[in-house]
Amino acid sequence: MSTAAPARKDFLSVLDFDPSDLERCLEIAAQVKADRTLGRQAPTSAALAGRHIAMLFEKASLRTRSTFEIAVVELGGNVVSLQPEAALGKREPVADVARNLERWVDGIVIRTFSQRVLEEFARAAPRMRVINALSDDQHPCQALADVMTLREQWGPLRGRTVAYVGDGNNVAVSLVHATLMLGVNIHVVSPDGYQLPDWAVQQAAAASRHGARLRLFSDAADGVAGADAVYTDTWTSMGQEAEAERRRQVFAPYQVNDALMSHAKPGALFMHCLPAHRGEEVTADVFESAASVVFDQAENRLHVQKALLVMLVAAAHA
Ligand code: CP
Repeated sequence: MSTAAPARKDFLSVLDFDPSDLERCLEIAAQVKADRTLGRQAPTSAALAGRHIAMLFEKASLRTRSTFEIAVVELGGNVVSLQPEAALGKREPVADVARNLERWVDGIVIRTFSQRVLEEFARAAPRMRVINALSDDQHPCQALADVMTLREQWGPLRGRTVAYVGDGNNVAVSLVHATLMLGVNIHVVSPDGYQLPDWAVQQAAAASRHGARLRLFSDAADGVAGADAVYTDTWTSMGQEAEAERRRQVFAPYQVNDALMSHAKPGALFMHCLPAHRGEEVTADVFESAASVVFDQAENRLHVQKALLVMLVAAAHA
């Protein structure tokens, strides 16, 4: 299994990978998952020995932060926790923060609002690998775990269809990128005014492989019809709390419940990036049903992020 570094130094978007990088990441993730029981005997247990990875989280996180920290430790590296108020505040320009950090650390995992901040970090620090742990635009690490989960469930992915129901947000954008790149059709089902942004629709055409199609829907039942998996996310993302009541009204017809799932293929999976809000975007029945793979998605965050660190940081020093 090759662990050669991808052409792009950073992972700010799924599109920073070419399709072969994405395939390789999923292969490495499956291997590190299988090897995890070996503990310190695992072949990758010293992959980051002597390497330092900084964590910079400007928003709350359970899954992303925990899994990145565990991944670094299990790969033999060292986690450096940064204070967001020191690194993303007004003390000094972002570029200066990045130029300091690259003198000390090999990579940085950043959760922030603006994708431009991530791009600024990446540009200012040519020796430091920058990983997007969620921005307002994209959530590429989540999408890696999502497609790993689908591959575990289905084996070959080409020709399958995933229906994403809800806000055309950062999770939707990265899911569109990853599914299309692997030959999976994707339906994005959203109310007017909350659809996938135009720039993401344009990128999708370039990302698509093996004839996979992006289709946009406004009717929930139409969008879910024939899907092999139904995916949803919170109606109100971090930073949108003031819109919560309005969003609850707009998104109510898009709740993933038994009636909506009945339009998907028999045996269709239910997916959610978490945290979930039972009674809002999904009913408790669907969330807890045998179709639900949400905790597999959460577990796979660890394995894909290990793979990412092996590819971006360890391979760069091999
Ligand atoms: N899905 C996800 O990114 O979870 P956290 O916000 O807890 O990191």
